[in-house]
Amino acid sequence: MSYQNLLVEKKDNVAVVTINRPDKLNALNSETMSELKKVFSELKTDDETYVVIITGSGEKAFVAGADISELNKLDVISGKAFAENGQDIFNLIENLDKPVIAAVNGFALGGGCELALACHIRVASENAKFGQPEVNLGIIPGYGGTQRLARLINSGRAMEYILTGDMIDAAEALRIGLVNKVYPQSELMNKVFEMARKIISKGQQAVRLAVKAVNIADEVPSKEGQHYEASLFSIGCGTEDFKEGTKAFLEKRKPGFKNK
Ligand code: COA
Repeated sequence: MSYQNLLVEKKDNVAVVTINRPDKLNALNSETMSELKKVFSELKTDDETYVVIITGSGEKAFVAGADISELNKLDVISGKAFAENGQDIFNLIENLDKPVIAAVNGFALGGGCELALACHIRVASENAKFGQPEVNLGIIPGYGGTQRLARLINSGRAMEYILTGDMIDAAEALRIGLVNKVYPQSELMNKVFEMARKIISKGQQAVRLAVKAVNIADEVPSKEGQHYEASLFSIGCGTEDFKEGTKAFLEKRKPGFKNK
């Protein structure tokens, strides 16, 4: 399938989704959002894709936010639908079950920061800048940012960044746990692929169960989460990969996972 505003490349069980509107710093207009919905719906059932990487085109921006020329037309009714549609699409990404890594190669502002937050792992280049500058426009984050940012970096820090609109540079993002790793821009994609390959070398049944289990950690009380964890753990115990993984350890050899 070809897209107007996305580039999608699949190779060696990795799908790379690149938001491709570099002249608008990859701002998310409604067409790009529908394309993201399409591509992630397709990737969910694509047996050949084990890990998804999402990044932005060019060297300046991951995504500089929702497209402000479209935001400008919203009113009370359409604003609610706009936020709910964006939330649904980002929830689709978060609940893909397969790991999604954000390769943040520049500005990740507003909806761009929220997109990175919906991914399971965030890896940034040294020039990356995060932020929720919606207050500068007279609104608040609407694609899940108030919730995910508060859970990831704590509500006190999230409150500060959302109320001031201040940008967070890569070093600070690393310090506060907003990103997992930071690399020079020239190394970013290689390092992200390295991480993807490491994940791909594991049993994919276990990888997907882990994504599901960790995903709900912020949603439910610990006791309920542990109950869910035990159910997913037991599913893992029924897989061929589990038999192979434990047998390989005991035989002092590398496991040959079949992802079954
Ligand atoms: N929506 C629509 N267009 C955007 C955009 C957005 N969120 N962010 C950048 N652009 C466009 C600019 O309008 C400009 O287009 P033009 O060349 O047709 O005028 C182009 O992208 C380049 O941006 P520009 O502002 O000239 O780059 P800069 O290097 O001077 O500044 C930013 C970069 C990221 C600081 C600045 O673009 C910015 O503040 N963007 C908006 C960020 C924001 O508020 N996001 C949250 C939206 S909810």
